[in-house]
Amino acid sequence: MSDNGNTNVPGRGPAQNGVAHNGRPVNGHAATAPNGQRPVAPSPPGARPPGTPPANIQMNGPRPAPHPGAPPKPPASAVSPTPAPAARGPVPQPPPSEAPHNGGVLPLPARAKGEIDAAKERAEALKADPELENAVGFTHFDTSSSHDNLVTVLSTKEDLHRLASQTLVRIKCREDDKAYLGVVVQGPFAEPNAVPANSTMAIGVVTHGKKLTYTFEYHGRAEVEILGEEVAGVLKPHRFRPRPQSPVFVLDEEESAKVLGVSGEMSIGTVVGYERMEARINARDKSVLPRHTGIIGTTGGGKSTTVATLIHRAQNSGIATIVFDVEGEYTHVDRPTDHQAMVETLKRRDQKPEGVKDLHIHHLVGRESRNPRHKNKHDFSLNFSSLSPYALAEILDMTEPQQERFLKAYDVTKLLLEDFEVYPVTDEERRDALEVDELSTGYPKMTIQHLLDVVNAYLYSLSDEGKGDGKNRASRAAKGKGTVAEEIEVLKEDEGPPANSLRLYSIFKNNPGNVMRRVMGQKSGNVISWRALASKIQRLRRLNIFDMGTTEGVKYDTMLSPGRVSVIDLSDTESPQLNNLVIADILRGIQERQEASYEKAHREGKDITPVLIIIEEAHEFLSASRIAQMKTLFEQVARIAKRGRKRWLGLVFVTQLPQHLPSEVLALLNNFIIHKITDGAVINQLKKSVGSIDESLWNRVSRLAPGQALMSFSHFTRPLMVAVDPAPVKRLLVD
Ligand SMILES: Nc1ncnc2c1ncn2[C@@H]1O[C@H](COP(=O)(O)OP(=O)(O)OP(=O)(O)O)[C@@H](O)[C@H]1O
Ligand SMILES: [Mg+2]
Repeated sequence: MSDNGNTNVPGRGPAQNGVAHNGRPVNGHAATAPNGQRPVAPSPPGARPPGTPPANIQMNGPRPAPHPGAPPKPPASAVSPTPAPAARGPVPQPPPSEAPHNGGVLPLPARAKGEIDAAKERAEALKADPELENAVGFTHFDTSSSHDNLVTVLSTKEDLHRLASQTLVRIKCREDDKAYLGVVVQGPFAEPNAVPANSTMAIGVVTHGKKLTYTFEYHGRAEVEILGEEVAGVLKPHRFRPRPQSPVFVLDEEESAKVLGVSGEMSIGTVVGYERMEARINARDKSVLPRHTGIIGTTGGGKSTTVATLIHRAQNSGIATIVFDVEGEYTHVDRPTDHQAMVETLKRRDQKPEGVKDLHIHHLVGRESRNPRHKNKHDFSLNFSSLSPYALAEILDMTEPQQERFLKAYDVTKLLLEDFEVYPVTDEERRDALEVDELSTGYPKMTIQHLLDVVNAYLYSLSDEGKGDGKNRASRAAKGKGTVAEEIEVLKEDEGPPANSLRLYSIFKNNPGNVMRRVMGQKSGNVISWRALASKIQRLRRLNIFDMGTTEGVKYDTMLSPGRVSVIDLSDTESPQLNNLVIADILRGIQERQEASYEKAHREGKDITPVLIIIEEAHEFLSASRIAQMKTLFEQVARIAKRGRKRWLGLVFVTQLPQHLPSEVLALLNNFIIHKITDGAVINQLKKSVGSIDESLWNRVSRLAPGQALMSFSHFTRPLMVAVDPAPVKRLLVD
């Protein structure tokens, strides 16, 4: 059944709508009017004539609990709280009038008598079982439309407000002595006791609220999802369901927190519906953050605020946090927030504005940071040698012929590096060279200039001058067949100035003959593809971000120290491709270093520093439309995700366009923080990736306020609606 607020349950007969859980009228209210007569149903002015289709009583969203003070009883002549079974039958006739006076003692009015009897019955029941005093309601009988995991709980009007959505309850089944834990997933609905909610009478009374001061008596109904059976204090999968009329008790906050599993040192917000319960994360639980998190939601939903809060909490828990900051909005998190609304919300939560300590900002060499005067600001260049050629081909969007030529040039460059005694030089390096996994890293000591020289040599080999020159050089080289060293000797003799159009800039310029021999040894045609490739690599080199000798690379050791917050400020890079290069390179660097730390900590029996890597605009890094062409990049991330679980490396993907994130990426995530999403299609798609969230919670995602989120963490018993704590740190606004 959906949570559409329709109080009329499909498949539910009128009897269920009108009769209380115990078969008696709820609250002991007699089904007769105060004068003891069963009045005929009125037709309030404007009421729907019988036979018109019943309207729904719409109550969208979490229902505010009806005011406990019941409105005055309807006058007998106006409304008939008739017992439900008769509600759809012929209108019952008034009962015979009261008996005549008896010895001067007036007989008790029927209503008063009914109430006394009911009170007596209640007192008897409570005497037998005082625990029932605390029951919030009782389980209802099942019907053919009952669902396996859902139990209907009926309550009095007075107790209805205690069954708010997401409330945890314990159901004690007296018949078989089993106890179940459950959670309110639908309702609480208010159903009239005497007539079906969609009867003309109920509709008539409610629609004339302006004129009428009375309404029908009603009771509460909630649908409770069974979480499991409690066996010796442990929640086990249940095989049965509670029998009808089992008392239901609300768990207090302390017990609820325990059942929900919201414990841990990092508090990121308060659980909606509870006064004080905090949504907490245990930073030292391997099954939580290292199992990776998605922060998802439409623009303005509160994703970046959640990230900022997370950064603050992570530092306090000794986690090393690295943020890939596409807009530079986290470059001031070392200062307390001055956002007025945040400051006020913080005050309400008894928290105060506070910046993180020891913030380090990293930005690409030659690019600005949004916090240019920050004292811990480091520029870095990328090492071409650490970038997988396959990932590079993907990031540069190479066509197949370009990629083929690129990989050929890459292989020739490797041969030349050995020829020129750059790498490998020692036996150990030779062994290592065989181990290089080019799907995850590049070739040691190779610079972009080495590669570009080779690509240019290929272009030259296809030119008219080059064709002749190459042949001469190659045939002369062939004369010196022998060992590699001898070959090099021969070629060295051949050193001459390069032809005008062959310009080499790396160490290869010392022996163009050797370069040409290697190129001619692995011929490759199609000048157009070579040209296109050359221009792509040339452009990449011109970015001046690779192998800048004077600029240090990223210092991973300090980046991965406890409590360190590192912001990789990408606000001044010109393209998503460049961002992707940086992210791919730094991710690999972090992984390598964390693997080494893990091995060391393992050997020494020490704890390892947990690491959290936050990637904003994750859909641009790993886009669904390009996943087919981005296999290497994705596999790199998947490898980090998989290995990170053991090695305390948690990834956090932040995106407002989860539909652009490949489902393979979503499948890597075990935790979700879902802010407001308005697009139904996106919600439907997410449902496939995020299990364990019930329909009633999904229904609320489109109505969440900024800062509210649906949180599904692997250590929570079930997903929770959370008001995320405002960020105590300063966040720059993005235009
Ligand atoms: N936890 C919160 N507590 C209080 N207010 C919040 C919270 N989260 C968000 N807000 C309010 O909502 C605004 C937008 O939040 P935020 O910038 O974090 O959204 P976003 O999802 O990152 O948006 P975008 O997709 O545009 O980056 C904030 O400026 C703030 O006013
Ligand atoms: Mg944002």
